Amino acid sequence: MKINWSGRSHYFSKNDLNYFSKVIKTADPLTQGTYLKKFESSFSKYIKNKNVLAVSSAASALEMIASIIDLKKGDEVIIPSHTYCASAIPFARNSAKIIWSDIDLDTRVVDIQDLKSKISKKTKAVVFVHLYGYAMDLSKIKSYLKKKKIIIIEDCAQALGARVNNKMVGNQGDFACFSFHAQKNITTLGEGGMLLFKDKKLMKTLTQMRHNGHCDFNFKRKNYWVPAMGNLDFELKNKWPYKFTLSEIQCAAGIRLLKKINQFNSLRIQRAKKAIKEWASLKELSFNKNFINKRHVYHLLSAYVDPSKKINRDKLIKTLFHKYKIKCAVQYIPLNRYPLFKKNGFGKSKCPNADKFYDNMISFPFHIWMSDSHFNYLINSVKKAVLELRHD
Ligand SMILES: Cc1ncc(COP(=O)(O)O)c(C=O)c1O
Repeated sequence: MKINWSGRSHYFSKNDLNYFSKVIKTADPLTQGTYLKKFESSFSKYIKNKNVLAVSSAASALEMIASIIDLKKGDEVIIPSHTYCASAIPFARNSAKIIWSDIDLDTRVVDIQDLKSKISKKTKAVVFVHLYGYAMDLSKIKSYLKKKKIIIIEDCAQALGARVNNKMVGNQGDFACFSFHAQKNITTLGEGGMLLFKDKKLMKTLTQMRHNGHCDFNFKRKNYWVPAMGNLDFELKNKWPYKFTLSEIQCAAGIRLLKKINQFNSLRIQRAKKAIKEWASLKELSFNKNFINKRHVYHLLSAYVDPSKKINRDKLIKTLFHKYKIKCAVQYIPLNRYPLFKKNGFGKSKCPNADKFYDNMISFPFHIWMSDSHFNYLINSVKKAVLELRHD
């Protein structure tokens, strides 16, 4: 392959590696120490939200959210079918009935009209996914959902740094999560995430939920070892805490990369804009639309390949793969099509746009460590491939 689909978003500089080596040599404890505190406080400043907890993944954050909102059998949670599975699994595990919401073909995120039509008396929560790094504006739907006492959850796994009206996504609802998985805009060495919440009273419960219910004793101790080094407790009835912690070296990586997030995102935005401009004459391809007051951070660069034109998506992928040695991908299979969801009773959806988009979309390799010459090669190869297929 000349341009492969990369499984990592970053390579580390010599200085980064020296810094990590120092952390490995000196950190004590190796988990949940000063680097955790520093990572959380840097993230909190960056995102402008005081209530943040670093966790082992966005999926863990969603698991904690699904647990704390206390779903009862029959409660419905509305989730886009066009997203990664972790947006939905925690809610299904916590006995929610999943209702799939459709996407808007211009923005590729939740279609508000469709969402409204799916709200019922049983709707307990709605998950909005800022997919591909596109910042979804929730201002209009927020008060409507609040009146109905529906919990708003933002899945910002792909959208670190995306903004609506200059405000970071992750602050529009009751809960949010971010991911620092290997391919995300920053990574805490392969896995990691952040949980955000609006109600600061939840800090104690969520902190205990993150780490097996560990807490202090609520009485003054004469000797630090009596009755033990620490206590275990959890105030939620019929719930058990988890172990979703991040190590100090992962937090150190988070601190380090977070400092450069604006630089990373600017490069993503600049490259995405360049490619979209260069491909503007290719009427077969279309890209995210509607950017008023929004900052899209292009976690991915994807296009819709118009099926009414001569070129189809599969032919384009095949040509790019075999002739130009560029590995593209198709993302995200509508979740209702997976055996996992089918077997559990969530195999049906009324999401024609999500189906249409997925069946005709292409995602180009877009890791930011790609060299400029490879990126230009990608741009030119897509142009050539489309022109060739037109005349095929
Ligand atoms: C939209 C979305 N939600 C959730 C997740 C889960 O993130 P993590 O891998 O950190 O659990 C991902 C990861 O790919 C994602 O893309």
